[in-house]
Amino acid sequence: MNSTTRKILITGGAGFIGSNFVHYILESYEDVKLFVIDKLTYAGNLKNLDRWKDDSRLDFLRVDIADKNAVNTSCENLDFNEVAHFAAESHVDRSITGPEEFVRTNVMGTFYMLELARKKYEQGSLTRFLHVSTDEVFGSLGEDGAFSETTSYAPNSPYSASKAGSDHLVRSYFHTYGMPVVTTNCSNNYGPFHFPEKLIPLMILNCLQGKALPVYGKGDNIRDWLYVKDHCSAIDLAMLKGVSGETYNIGTRNEMNNLQIVELICTLMDKYHPAGAPHKKLIQFVKDRPGHDFRYAIDPSKIENQLGWKPKYSFETAIQETVEWYIKNGDWWKEILSGEYKSYYEMQYKN
Ligand code: NAD
Ligand code: TYD
Repeated sequence: MNSTTRKILITGGAGFIGSNFVHYILESYEDVKLFVIDKLTYAGNLKNLDRWKDDSRLDFLRVDIADKNAVNTSCENLDFNEVAHFAAESHVDRSITGPEEFVRTNVMGTFYMLELARKKYEQGSLTRFLHVSTDEVFGSLGEDGAFSETTSYAPNSPYSASKAGSDHLVRSYFHTYGMPVVTTNCSNNYGPFHFPEKLIPLMILNCLQGKALPVYGKGDNIRDWLYVKDHCSAIDLAMLKGVSGETYNIGTRNEMNNLQIVELICTLMDKYHPAGAPHKKLIQFVKDRPGHDFRYAIDPSKIENQLGWKPKYSFETAIQETVEWYIKNGDWWKEILSGEYKSYYEMQYKN
């Protein structure tokens, strides 16, 4: 390592977006050192990082960020100057049935990471703390409009409330201590290594297994889909060029309702997995999620105009790539499904 090497502590780097970020950084920069810390909860999977297991640029440590002693003893001596903070409990349905872990990891865990970073900052070695957050902190939209960076916070689920709490803590470390923090709030991601409890991977895998496709309510709730690889390039740009204390919304103006997404996946599956066609016959409308936010939509003008971010992938290409990835990576998802994992739908309807 020399003095210009980027040295990044990545929390939650064995999860969906965190592992994609590790891939993105190691593919994009030769001169980099990554320290991934992750508790390896049900959602964390070291297989996601398998490709780099012999690469000396990556070190992995199993750490629970909500355990103050573990954070201090394992991380204080790591030589990093940037933090990319992904670790969180991330699934809204789980936050409804078990909110405590969300407060613990998302609020207390973020607090301990900020305190760790503050020590580095006071030693003069922290250049960035990038906090990855969600558009769900802004609550639910009606038919029109989009969230901007000045939209008021109005979180509706224990998940979004815990993320909102963490966003406020991060903000306070800029205003109180002058730390170089940046927060990004993005819309729903999709892509490789997505844990199959979330809409898109769940539907793809259920199609592959000939299982029901549970659509909550009437399927008219709207989400704004962002390809994870585009998200990673935006985070990296915000780390390098973001203005400390600022927040940036990340999205690609790609709104679709849930039924449209599920039907599109069925059409792609008819093409790539014709044995199960027509997959639409698997769609089942099920009981709605309590407090289900109607619509999310991101206005990404600020990151586009002020930092010059441009997504690289079209939705058509990226969703096709995603479907193909799950078809090709049966070993990855079969191992997950062979464990104790049950979808919310199965917990509600099949017990
Ligand atoms: P994920 O659930 O796939 O991964 C989370 C990772 O964090 C896992 O590897 C898990 O083991 C780890 N983790 C959980 N608790 C931990 C703890 N106490 N200590 C250490 N590690 C812990 O989540 P994701 O989809 O990759 O989300 C990453 C971040 O992006 C989260 O902060 C989430 O709120 C945010 N986000 C996600 C989306 C999305 O669509 N997936 C959208 C907006 C924002
Ligand atoms: P999800 O992927 O859980 O993300 P979030 O709740 O954070 O937006 O859900 C995306 C949308 O899909 C949301 O409106 C709920 C809906 N949904 C279903 O209709 N069926 C399902 O089995 C799941 C998991 C989600």
